[in-house]
Amino acid sequence: MCVDWCIREEGVDEKKIEFLGNKMCIGNGYFGYRGTLEEYGKDQLAACTVSEIFDDNGNGWREPVNVPNGLYTWAEYAGEKLTVLDAQAESHVQELYIDTGTHRRETVFAAGDGSRIKVESERFASLSDLHMLVMRCQVSADRDLELRVCTGIDDDIWNINGNHFAETEIQEKDGVDGIVCRTIQDGRSVAVAAKICITAGASVTDKKQDVTVIHASLKKDVPFVMEKYTAICKETDCQDVWESAVCCCMESAERGFEFLKEEQRRLWGERYRRLGIEIKGDEEAQQAVLYSAYLLYSSAPAHTDRVAIPARGLSGQVYKGAMFWDTEIYMLPMFAFCDPAIARNLVMYRVRNLEGAREKAAEYGYRGAFYPWESQENGKDGCTLYNLTDIFTGRKIRTYFRDKQIHISADVAYGLWKYMEVTGDKEILLEGAAEVILECARFFYSYAYYKKDKERFEFLDVTGADEYHERVNNDAYTNYMIRLTAKAALDVLDLLKRAYPDRYEELMAEIDYRDEEEHIRDLYENIYLPEPGAGLVIEQFDGYLKGEDLSLEELYSRIIKPNEYLGSPTGLTVNTQIIKQADVVLLMSLLGDAFTEKVKEKNWEYYEPRTEHGSSLSTCIYALLAAQVGKTEWAYKYLMKAAKIDLTGDYKLYLGDLYIGGTHPAANGGTWMVVVQGFAGLDVKDGGIRIDPHLPDKWEELKFCFGYAGSRYRAAVRRREIEIRCESPESAELKVTCRGKEYLCTPDESLKITY
Ligand code: BGC
Repeated sequence: MCVDWCIREEGVDEKKIEFLGNKMCIGNGYFGYRGTLEEYGKDQLAACTVSEIFDDNGNGWREPVNVPNGLYTWAEYAGEKLTVLDAQAESHVQELYIDTGTHRRETVFAAGDGSRIKVESERFASLSDLHMLVMRCQVSADRDLELRVCTGIDDDIWNINGNHFAETEIQEKDGVDGIVCRTIQDGRSVAVAAKICITAGASVTDKKQDVTVIHASLKKDVPFVMEKYTAICKETDCQDVWESAVCCCMESAERGFEFLKEEQRRLWGERYRRLGIEIKGDEEAQQAVLYSAYLLYSSAPAHTDRVAIPARGLSGQVYKGAMFWDTEIYMLPMFAFCDPAIARNLVMYRVRNLEGAREKAAEYGYRGAFYPWESQENGKDGCTLYNLTDIFTGRKIRTYFRDKQIHISADVAYGLWKYMEVTGDKEILLEGAAEVILECARFFYSYAYYKKDKERFEFLDVTGADEYHERVNNDAYTNYMIRLTAKAALDVLDLLKRAYPDRYEELMAEIDYRDEEEHIRDLYENIYLPEPGAGLVIEQFDGYLKGEDLSLEELYSRIIKPNEYLGSPTGLTVNTQIIKQADVVLLMSLLGDAFTEKVKEKNWEYYEPRTEHGSSLSTCIYALLAAQVGKTEWAYKYLMKAAKIDLTGDYKLYLGDLYIGGTHPAANGGTWMVVVQGFAGLDVKDGGIRIDPHLPDKWEELKFCFGYAGSRYRAAVRRREIEIRCESPESAELKVTCRGKEYLCTPDESLKITY
C-alpha cells in the first residue's frame, strides 16, 4: 500500500499555533497532548488533557482537567533562548507520523555568533503503557560549543474556564520529579512525574527552582541526546498516583525510547490493519482517511467504559470535554465494524450512566431515560441553560440544547441496537443494555402527545439535529428515530422472553415494565412519521417549508458581525429554511431502507443548497447519502471536506462568543462511514451484510476490513467486482446481499461478486 504517513508543516507562523496544536495532536485515550512545541506554555495553548477527570471550580462550567506539562523544555546558548518565540529560526518543520502516533520537530537556529544549532524532538503518547508520554530531544551544532538545556514540568496551565486544582504538591523520589494535583470540586488526584535520561553527550546537571538545567558540551555535529519519560497517573486507575507515576517512569526508562517506539509501530499498525483501508488511485484521499482514523483512535477509550469520546476528542477542553450523540451516530460505526472491544466501551458508557438519564427525565417531569446533551464521566448533563452570549448585546442567550434535543435518547438506543446487530454481542443486554433501550422507549412514551382527532402520537416542542431551529413540532429525524427506539424495545422484550426468560421476569419486576409493553407497541404503531410531500420532500418539521427560502449567499450578506450566532432565538436562520447541519438527510442515510432511492435523491437535492454546514457533523452525512444513492461526484467532494477538516482547519471557531476549536472526531468517524458505508455501501441486513458499491471515478479499488457477528472479513471493491474473504476460520457462512441478490461467503473460499 502506498501511503504517505507523514503530515508536515514548514516554517514558523504565529497565526498557526492554535491550529497546529489541534492538527498535530497525539493521544492514547488516556490523555491527549496538543501539537505544540516543547518551549510553549499556556499562551500558546500547550495542554495535556486527561480523560475521566473533570472539574468545576465554582463558576458552573465543568470541564476536563489539563495537567502540568511534563514536556516543557528549551535550549539556551550565550544567554539567548533557542525557541521559536525568542530566536530566529533558520528552518523549522513540524511533523506528525500517524503510523506510530509520533510528533516530531526540527528547528535550526542561527545564533548571534554565526553558529547553527539544531533542536530536534520526537514524542508519543504510548499505547503500550497508557500513562506514558515519551520524548526524545536532540541538540547539535556546527561547531564545538557549550549550551544549556532546561527542562521541567510546567504547572502554569492553560485552562478555558479557570484553575482546576485546589492543591499542587511538588514531589521527588529516586531521581523522578513530579507534581501531585487535587481537583477543586471532587478532590480527585492526578500525578505528573518525569524521569530524565541523558543518553549521549557530555553534560553536568543542576536544578534551578523546579527546572533541571543541563550544561551540555557539544562537539561539532555530535548530538546531545536526552530522553524524558513523563508519567500521568489518575486516581481512576491508580491507588497511589504518585507511587504509580514513579514506577511507570522507571519502567519506561528501563525499556527505553527505541523499544517503546517499536511498540507504537506495532500497536498503531494493528489498528490500521483492523481498518484495512486501501484506496488505489487516490493518495490524497488515502492519507486524509487514515489521518481521520488516527485522530479518532487517539481519543478512543480502549482502556475503560467510564468515558466515551468527547466532541473535540482529547485536543483540549472545548465543549466541556463532553460526550454527545456524536459518539453513537458518527464514531461508533467504525469501532462496531472494526474494533468491537472499543465499541463495547463506548456503548457500556451509556449503560453505566442510565441513572443520570433517569434523573434527567424525572427533572423534566418524564419517566424513563432522557440522556444528557453534554454527558461527562458522571452521566449528568453538563449543558448550561444559557450556553451562548449574544455578541450584539452581551446578554446570555437561553438555548434549549439541554431541554429539547430529546433525540439523544433515540440515538443512544439506536447505537446500542446497531452495535448488537454488527457484533452479535447479545450478552450486553444482560449487562444493562436492555434497561437502557426499554427506558429510552418509556421516556418517549411519556413525552409523546396523543392527538386524538388524528389518532397519532406527535412530538412537540423539540429540537432536531439542526440546532438552528429550536422548539419545533414533529421533527422528522426525531420522530423516525423514536419509532426505531420503540421497535428496538419491542425486539428486546421478545428476545428476552425467548432467550432469557428468567431475566425477562426479573427485569419486568425490577423496572416495573409489564404494562409498558402495550404503551410502547401503541407508540410504535401510531407515531406520526412525516411522509414525502410535494417534490417528494419530507418537511424537516411542521411548518419548515413556510420559512423564507433564500440562498446561503443571501443569508451571509445579512450578517453584521463575524461570529454572530445564526440560530434560535433571534439568529438570521430562524425564520428561514437554512439549516445548520444534516437533518432529514441524516435520517435517510441512517434508515436508508425506509425510503426509496428517488425520495433520498430528492431530499438530498432539496436540503443540500439550504445547509450551512455550521457543524462539523454535516458534510460527512451529505457525502454518505450522496454515495449511497450514487451521486459519487458530490459524495467525493463532501468526503474530502470531512476527511480534511483537521488538516485544512476549515471549520468554525466560534458559536457566538463560544470557542469551539479543536479536533473533530465526529467528522473523523463520519469519514470512515462515507468510505465504507457510503462508497462500498456496507451495512447489516437480514442476519447478514449488504454491500452496494458506488466508487468515485478515480478509485480503482477500495479495500477494507470489517467484522460481523464475531468473525473478521477483508473486502476488495473494484469497478465491477467485489471480493470478500473470511479471515476467521471457525466462522459460519455469511449472507451477503448485493444489488438485491443474495450470496454466501464461506470461511474457506473467497466470494467474488460481479455487479
Ligand atoms: C452540533 C451538534 C453536536 C455538537 C458537538 C454542535 O455544533 O450542532 O450536533 O453534537 O456540536 O459536536
